[in-house]
Amino acid sequence: MIKQILEMNAEELKTALSSGSITICIVGIGRIGLPTALSFANSGLFTIGLDVNSELVKNINSGIYPLKDEPEYDKIFEKVVSEKKFIATTNIEESVSKADVILLSLPTPMDSNNIPDYSALRLVGSQLSDHLQEGSLVIVESTIEPGFVENELISIIEGSNKRLNVEKNFGIGVCPETANPGEIMVDFTKLPRLVAGVNQKITQLIYEIYHYVFPVELIKMPNCKTANAVKLTTNVFRDINIAFINELSIFFEKLGIDTFTVLEAAKSKYNFQVHYPGAGVGGPCLPVNSYQLLNSAKTFGDDDMLSIIKASRKVNESMPEHVIKLIQNVFSESNRELGNATIMVLGISYKPNVKDIQLTPAKPIIEKLKNLGVKIKIFDPFYKNEKIFDITIENDLFENLSDCDGLVIVTNHDEFSSINLKLLASKMKFPIIIDTRGLIKKDNAKKAGLVFRGLGQ
Ligand SMILES: NC(=O)c1ccc[n+]([C@@H]2O[C@H](COP(=O)([O-])OP(=O)(O)OC[C@H]3O[C@@H](n4cnc5c(N)ncnc54)[C@H](O)[C@@H]3O)[C@@H](O)[C@H]2O)c1
Repeated sequence: MIKQILEMNAEELKTALSSGSITICIVGIGRIGLPTALSFANSGLFTIGLDVNSELVKNINSGIYPLKDEPEYDKIFEKVVSEKKFIATTNIEESVSKADVILLSLPTPMDSNNIPDYSALRLVGSQLSDHLQEGSLVIVESTIEPGFVENELISIIEGSNKRLNVEKNFGIGVCPETANPGEIMVDFTKLPRLVAGVNQKITQLIYEIYHYVFPVELIKMPNCKTANAVKLTTNVFRDINIAFINELSIFFEKLGIDTFTVLEAAKSKYNFQVHYPGAGVGGPCLPVNSYQLLNSAKTFGDDDMLSIIKASRKVNESMPEHVIKLIQNVFSESNRELGNATIMVLGISYKPNVKDIQLTPAKPIIEKLKNLGVKIKIFDPFYKNEKIFDITIENDLFENLSDCDGLVIVTNHDEFSSINLKLLASKMKFPIIIDTRGLIKKDNAKKAGLVFRGLGQ
């Protein structure tokens, strides 16, 4: 029998890893957890994927790869599933009690009042309390508020029966996940990652594990809360900067200035980091991460704390309403009644080139248009023939435009950038187009015979 991982020094752990005698269990094999599990299995370690989604588990064990928009992982999936290096299960008792390392890649969303929801982590934490093998190591990859591990998760895992004591008979740390959906393979092989444990020895063990699997720079952080703060800082930085550009873009519309021309030139300044305006900021990360920091700040009872994040959220959440104003404005100028119109929504994913509609701005835009009496059609290459927001997604764009009085680009999927504008104009009942992503230049739209509005243009 090999030594418990917690008792190993770095050299012993390296040897155990390269001999393949360490078993990994990844709890939550979704967008991030599955590619993570595949990376561990592909490095030669026996990996168990644990998930409550029995359909997902069944599909994985039958060799059906679920993440069609994460290229290259399909080949690794085929290999590790057929070699039985990776199996999926819904049985927490069996999987956790066999594992030396347990990674938590559980969802950390927020509720309808924007309150972060850590219920999956809390639930699994209490299950670990019953099933964790002594001497094993828990690593939280989920995005959490600074202090969640130290102030809450550890005592949940220790449980009331005190079978387990942190540092004594189980270790815990974090390696916050920073990959971008749609580009996970690239990010997993290039992006530096942060590692931290509840003490230096555990940090070193986590470092060795990730070093064995991922060919990326690993940065050791002084503690878990600092590592989690870095993760939130990078994403909230984006949320705030996008809000700034969104607000500027509305202002520039009034001044008759093209925001995209401004940004192109501003990029030439060495210390300017470009962000682009759009219909809103969605996805499982940016909006949630801003609210996670705001939630953290609540403990101090000062309403003005982190006010810049609050203001940014307000701007980003108001962008769908601005898109509606642009639509109303162009319909009114064209003497077309919006109430009876049919509008094609181009793209519903929250960001380009992924199949993901979590917190997508397309949803409030569609709801607001429906409330105004507009009939909605949708084309999104990632959702062909599926029913989303109660609407069956069109299979083809150009064949479904003849009753459309307008088209609004919400997501800039790559395939939309080569769209033939003249053909578009010729196929529509009336050629109004609203571009919220700067895909179309005003002059090109005019040349093609489109009646055009561009957000920020
Ligand atoms: N998706 C991203 O872009 C991204 C990027 C970086 C970090 N993150 C963070 O990574 C974490 C995971 O995100 P994701 O996008 O992979 O989520 P996801 O929803 O795609 O996957 C989570 C998985 O956990 C499973 N699950 C839920 N409750 C469970 C339970 N009690 N026991 C076992 N399995 C359970 C779900 O069925 C699902 O398959 C989150 O904290 C998120 O903020 C996400």
